[in-house]
Amino acid sequence: MQGSARNIAIFGAGYIGLVTAACFARLGHRVTVRDIQPERVRLLQAGDVPIYEPGLGELLADNKESLTYTLDASEAVRDAHVAYICVDTPPTASGDADLSRVWSVIDSLRGATHLAAVVVKSTVPVGTGARIRAALDSAGLQHVGYASNPEFTAEGRAVTDFLQPDRIVVGTDDPDTAELVAGLHAGIHGPVQTMDVASAEMVKLASNALLATKITFINEIATVCEATGADVTRVADAVGLDHRLGRHFLNAGLGYGGSCFPKDSRALRAMASNSGYSFQLLNAVIEVNDLQPRRAVQRLKSELGTLRDKRIALLGMTFKPGTDDMREAPSTVMASRLLAEGADLTCWDPMARPADTAPWNQAERRPTVLEALTGADAAVIVTEWHDLLDTDWAAARSLMRTPVLFDGRNVLDPDTLGRFGYTCMSVGRAT
Ligand code: UGA
Repeated sequence: MQGSARNIAIFGAGYIGLVTAACFARLGHRVTVRDIQPERVRLLQAGDVPIYEPGLGELLADNKESLTYTLDASEAVRDAHVAYICVDTPPTASGDADLSRVWSVIDSLRGATHLAAVVVKSTVPVGTGARIRAALDSAGLQHVGYASNPEFTAEGRAVTDFLQPDRIVVGTDDPDTAELVAGLHAGIHGPVQTMDVASAEMVKLASNALLATKITFINEIATVCEATGADVTRVADAVGLDHRLGRHFLNAGLGYGGSCFPKDSRALRAMASNSGYSFQLLNAVIEVNDLQPRRAVQRLKSELGTLRDKRIALLGMTFKPGTDDMREAPSTVMASRLLAEGADLTCWDPMARPADTAPWNQAERRPTVLEALTGADAAVIVTEWHDLLDTDWAAARSLMRTPVLFDGRNVLDPDTLGRFGYTCMSVGRAT
């Protein structure tokens, strides 16, 4: 590998940037990570990892000789052959992606003398690459190649996804740049799909929108199952055995959250709308997903008669298990709605960081599942943390004021819970 080892500058030390940096260092490259947050850079320089991602800390520690962290963009690009842009592209109020951080990285590349390619990993609207190409040209960097190399890593398994990908997408109009970017991944087994820049940008948005659509589809099937007596988990298992459809992302629940699906589906919708097309399917997906946690609150209200002065235990706060990420978590929508209905909240999560903002500052966070359940009129499994499978639900029943258990992720067996004396609710299953 040493022969093809490159100097890589990574811009952005978030989930994507750090995972990319750690994995490239593991593949034998020398990596300099640049972030604009002094505290983040200081932590990384001290050997700490500012985010939770399984395997990331070990990978950064094992390859620390190949990794440098800096606040200084010119230091990052001084010896770099490749500049990877991994900064965040948060949504604006209209749903468009805010690309200001991408542009400020592009501005900082002017003095780079060894640079052979600029690669964007951040999720950007289709057409951004063409604009970056034009900006590089007018900055005198015509000789520098450009590529889009979108990421398909899911939080909680990002390191594995990076090192064992389903595919590596390289979008570029320049064969040398395609070879360079593909070569950076030498040592990883996964098909490299080379294409034009716009198509690569679209692959990322289309993949996330299709996954969000799959989840939303099964959530709507679940709603119909509730009304007709069918069981959505059985339906999903059998539908998923059709190899054309697959079982992945057919788990009905309280809706998708996180930093990617909500943002990317809104960004694709905004992009379509800016080009004069109303993406009707995506409109429906976004609307149904927004309603999903609200529907759950309504069902709980019908079950309890009223939510006023009821104590509700929310089990799981993060948008999915295995992460500390609370961005666009369905739990936050549920907590707000429940509080608006006059409920008291207790909550439990093994990893969510302490939240001192609304609505969580009005919920009483408890250290264990059993303590969160104590005195509750109902409990909702919002995030399917493994601890919930290990909970002694027989013992937990006597701690609750009324044993109403809403399994919002369909992870517990309703028959067993019924035998323990619970009134069970779930998403799309006979209860
Ligand atoms: C997602 C994609 O899975 C990655 O491929 C992509 O690279 C990433 O977005 C990104 O764009 O960066 P992530 O947001 O980390 O990854 O999480 P997922 O595991 O995909 O889950 C997203 C949401 O969908 C969660 O709220 C989860 O609970 C929900 N979900 C997932 C369901 O409700 N049902 C399912 O069957 C699967």
